[in-house]
Amino acid sequence: MDTRKFGRTKLEVTPIGLGLAALGRPGYINIGHSADLNGSYAVGAMETRAHAVLDAAYKNGVRYFDAARSYGRAEEFLGSWLRSREISPASIVIGSKWGYTYTADWKIQAEAHEIKEHSLDVLRKQWSESTSTLGEHLDLYQIHSATLASAVLENEQVLGQLAAMKNDGLAIGLSVSGPNQRAVIERAIATEIEGVPLFDSIQATWNLLETSAESSLAMAREAGMGVIIKEALANGRLTDRNSSPGFAEKMALLHSEAARLSTSIDALALAAVLAQPWVDIVLSGAAREEHLLSNLSALDVLWDATAEDNLGLLTESTEEYWRRRSRLKWN
Ligand SMILES: NC(=O)c1ccc[n+]([C@@H]2O[C@H](COP(=O)([O-])OP(=O)(O)OC[C@H]3O[C@@H](n4cnc5c(N)ncnc54)[C@H](OP(=O)(O)O)[C@@H]3O)[C@@H](O)[C@H]2O)c1
Repeated sequence: MDTRKFGRTKLEVTPIGLGLAALGRPGYINIGHSADLNGSYAVGAMETRAHAVLDAAYKNGVRYFDAARSYGRAEEFLGSWLRSREISPASIVIGSKWGYTYTADWKIQAEAHEIKEHSLDVLRKQWSESTSTLGEHLDLYQIHSATLASAVLENEQVLGQLAAMKNDGLAIGLSVSGPNQRAVIERAIATEIEGVPLFDSIQATWNLLETSAESSLAMAREAGMGVIIKEALANGRLTDRNSSPGFAEKMALLHSEAARLSTSIDALALAAVLAQPWVDIVLSGAAREEHLLSNLSALDVLWDATAEDNLGLLTESTEEYWRRRSRLKWN
């Protein structure tokens, strides 16, 4: 896989990265997560599965890996994989996130799966935990799900600490979610510390159903930020696992375009992201090797104007999209 410069940073990244949200914990909201894990939730079994998917990604050229403190043991599994495979920090780019604490206690159903707090104390605590696990492999540290309501983009103590970390050579980013992604991205682009833009990257949701962030993502890219896209498969809604009768017409459209372009519908949905001029990395959220390989075949899709036109019909209203996402069940 080719590499490209990641925004204004010195990092070189691949167009497809692997996200570890589904690999680091037994419970997640993706459709079919429980089927993937097949009843095998022991820490050792999950670590072996995570290592197998990481091996397959690395073997196929993936060089960006995305974790978070709140993805259960994702950082730990990534750290043990890096050490056991003796992967040098220079040969790979690792991003993680702070701001949510994992609280599900390795359970599939929990009262609270993760607790959000964007304070200086949490930043300091989680930074120390992330570096003790990932050490000098850690290249990018992102605020996890920044919102205007959490006021993290106005918290001078937090921003000052992030600026100090950036001065030490770390890339600083943020991720956004929900119907107000655009406003948060625009605020992030404008955030400067002593006249220097703070954020080197943005991680946001864009997929064939929810495209509302695209103009602000283009602005972010133009401003020199690296752009990472998550939830490109709408948490599994853009895969064969979506058997919802209400989606049948859209599914038929996806299948007919996938057949025309000789690909799978997950690869088609990822190719739609890769076709955007402002994207640097699209994340695969695969928890199984065969899904990862199908996702990677997005690189071979010959995306064209017909696909752009036909699949443009899939877009939902932003409010409806996020309402549906909030109804996905932990499994
Ligand atoms: N706020 C944030 O910062 C935030 C939020 C969400 C996600 N993320 C990042 O983005 C990454 C990706 O997001 P995501 O996993 O939530 O959503 P996603 O990429 O939209 O969806 C992944 C889902 O699609 C399924 N899938 C993939 N290929 C498939 C295939 N060929 N057939 C059937 N199912 C298939 C996966 O199943 P399998 O599990 O069976 O492979 C998984 O359930 C995460 O790992 C994380 O790094 C960040």
